[in-house]
Amino acid sequence: MTDKTFWDTLPRPIVGLAPMDGYSDSAFRHICKKVNPDIVTVTEFTSADGISFSASKLMRKLSFHPEEQPVIAQIFGKNEETFIRATKVCQDMGFSGIDINMGCPSKKVVQSEHGVALRRKPDLAYRLIEAVASNTHLPVSVKTRLGWDNAEDLISFSKGAQNAGANMICIHARTYLEPYNVPAQWEHLYALKQELSIPVLGNGGIVSLKDGLEKCQNLDGFLIGQASFGNPWVFTEEGMPSSFVDKLPIIKLHAEYLVENKGETVGCREIRKHLLQYVKGFKGAKLFRSKITHVDSLSAIDEVLAEIVAYDG
Ligand SMILES: Cc1cc2nc3c(=O)[nH]c(=O)nc-3n(C[C@H](O)[C@H](O)[C@H](O)COP(=O)(O)O)c2cc1C
Repeated sequence: MTDKTFWDTLPRPIVGLAPMDGYSDSAFRHICKKVNPDIVTVTEFTSADGISFSASKLMRKLSFHPEEQPVIAQIFGKNEETFIRATKVCQDMGFSGIDINMGCPSKKVVQSEHGVALRRKPDLAYRLIEAVASNTHLPVSVKTRLGWDNAEDLISFSKGAQNAGANMICIHARTYLEPYNVPAQWEHLYALKQELSIPVLGNGGIVSLKDGLEKCQNLDGFLIGQASFGNPWVFTEEGMPSSFVDKLPIIKLHAEYLVENKGETVGCREIRKHLLQYVKGFKGAKLFRSKITHVDSLSAIDEVLAEIVAYDG
């Protein structure tokens, strides 16, 4: 069981899979942990209102395998009462920590004044952190961005989060207004670390474990997001296997976990985007794209994978 010292006592540097809606579900987290058992994983962002009003439905979405531990539940919202109820559900489910999303830029989330919109309402943001932190024995973290359109209030916001009870803060080194493909600005994070006593993780634009270690500098660790698409081996020093056949065991396991967790229909539909990522850069990829986008059973997946291996050989 974890407590508030969790982030302080993890071996450095802390390496983790970033929370990503539509990607960092149980199956993908489990695969990344198979590849590197030492990483921390975070769920897709989940509505605190949703958890507190229809716990059983969202508990299915949030369920995880013990091998994914330490796994952190990421929640978003703007209401203290529902945050507290959602926190208790996550605590009872056995999560290792609660992460509060204060970085999501999606229009729907921002219009509802959730996610990164809380950066414009720091007092509410601090109240939410305090409400969660004082109602759980779990460590509470905050994931946010540099700021709205610049990093001017990053230090003051982060200090406020720390004072409100956050035990770790993870900064995606881009502003709200910057798309995911502009270069991340890590220098703001190094300056922030000097001002805080809680651990600071960096995130944004990391392409390999080596790259993460270089960018980490004085920080306590980092989360890798998009570079893990079709490449859970990004969490190893060796990186992606060079031949497709060596990727097969992990790809097949990914499909099996997805089908186990979500059933064959949904699992096979969801594995398609991952398979397209797994074959990215492979010289014959386009020959198999259409077949991949129609797989509807584990045997159809095995079949197309066997064809790719035969082509690769
Ligand atoms: C498809 C997608 C979904 C995302 N969903 C979430 C989310 O649910 N919660 C969150 O805090 N950040 C989310 N993010 C942001 C990532 O966690 C991360 O901050 C961002 O991708 C930058 O890291 P990267 O350059 O390594 O990908 C998402 C990003 C992507 C691309």
